[in-house]
Amino acid sequence: MPDQNLVVIVLAAGAGTRMKSAKPKVLHHLAGLPLVGHVLHTARALEPVQVIAVVRHERERVVETITTMLPDVVIVDQDDIPGTGRAVEVALAALPDGFTGEVVIVSGDVPMLDADTLTALIAEHRAASSAATLLSAILDDATGYGRVIRAADGSLDRIVEQKDAAAHELEVLEVNSGTYVFSVGPLREQLALVGTANAQNEKYLTDVVAMIRETGAVVAAMPVAQPWIVAGINDRAQLGEAAVRMNQLIVRGHQLNGVTIVDPASTWIDLEVSIGEDVEILPGTQLLGATSIERDAIIGPDTTLLDTEVKQGATVKRTDATLAVVGAWASVGPFAYLRPGTILEADGKIGTFVETKNSTIGKGSKVPHLSYIGDTTVGEQSNVGAGTITANYDGVNKAKTVVGSHVRTGSHNVFVAPVRIGDGAYTGAGTVVRKDVPAGALAINVAPQRNMEGWVEANRAGTAAATAAAAGTDTD
Ligand code: UD1
Ligand code: MG
Repeated sequence: MPDQNLVVIVLAAGAGTRMKSAKPKVLHHLAGLPLVGHVLHTARALEPVQVIAVVRHERERVVETITTMLPDVVIVDQDDIPGTGRAVEVALAALPDGFTGEVVIVSGDVPMLDADTLTALIAEHRAASSAATLLSAILDDATGYGRVIRAADGSLDRIVEQKDAAAHELEVLEVNSGTYVFSVGPLREQLALVGTANAQNEKYLTDVVAMIRETGAVVAAMPVAQPWIVAGINDRAQLGEAAVRMNQLIVRGHQLNGVTIVDPASTWIDLEVSIGEDVEILPGTQLLGATSIERDAIIGPDTTLLDTEVKQGATVKRTDATLAVVGAWASVGPFAYLRPGTILEADGKIGTFVETKNSTIGKGSKVPHLSYIGDTTVGEQSNVGAGTITANYDGVNKAKTVVGSHVRTGSHNVFVAPVRIGDGAYTGAGTVVRKDVPAGALAINVAPQRNMEGWVEANRAGTAAATAAAAGTDTD
């Protein structure tokens, strides 16, 4: 049941100029999700009666991402007045009628904040009957953040932004994380009174803290246990640091769930990847998007899997795969490229220097070496010879190749699609298969070999080859 007294406001209207990017800051990715996606997940986990997202910069792109991730979110547009205070003010206009509870405010650019930390903040706020409780952090380097200024008795006095801070205030290492719980009444009253007389000419949300305190109500700042939880992403360096930190957490989570990860530093795993017990991940591996790996599989080294399913016990070595399925106990690589729509069934093999696309390789079937297989279905227990290419594109249309079960095709074949090779058929080495091959037939179309005896001596006299030929023996 949603908490009727709780609303979460996600601030996502800023331009994010320090990212120096055509893409809005909150859409930059971290562990496979946009920054704002992490925040939405956390917001939803609190089960508030409503989640409100404030947008402005690149509105359409941001709204599309937000509503895809959280369809029942309420979108609010910030107007021309800049600043976090204004963003919250416009959001308050979208609250449910008669709402008298608490408003949690989170930034779209603070992706590692978790629901447990927010739950503790809300509990603290309620226990102390506060009007405003903010999450702070004590950092080694506070550059860029608003500073938490405490009174002589240690209570929260006010927040001062980096750009407005006096020299002695800049030395303060306790910072505002941009995460707050407010009781809605005092927030609404004081926000209406906030001006823009500051270094950035913005309506700062942070100003309401001191204003609420001056009314005699309780305001408090609760330091978070581990400062990285509230790290704000403002530039690419911070994005990179956050990615490393989040990856460490994800890797560790899988290790504790029974996955062997040989080199955590060179292994990158997105948040939504699932991995079974006794999977082994070798160095240089990236598991991205909605990839899932079933138990006992061995992945890597140097493998990138995006939205790919690997079933139990399969081996995927030095491979790049997107939207592919690798069956149980199947083997892929080294040096394979599995493009979207590749399905390798159980016990099958896609071997070295093989590219596949939109193709199903049936149970126990093999494409072991140097091949391109596109728009193809291979039945069960067949072997596609080394160096086989499916010519699936005539420059206008794509066409299908169908290879039956228990087929043996020779090395260096071309299958010119559309073409079918029947069950149990064979093809000779170097065959260009342009016509369907019936079940059980041997197809060959290479011209018979003609040996012109003495050709080198007659035509290349005096060369090393001619000398070798004169001294050498026949092969028979
Ligand atoms: C803000 C805080 C600062 C705190 C820091 C923590 C203010 C005035 N300052 O600074 O005290 O230490 O976060 O990370 O609040 N946004 C809007 N509308 C706007 C401006 C910003 O929605 O007009 C959104 C942004 O998209 C972003 C969030 O608010 O998600 C924070 O904005 P940002 O510009 O990053 O604020 P900081 O300078 O980091
Ligand atoms: Mg910020």
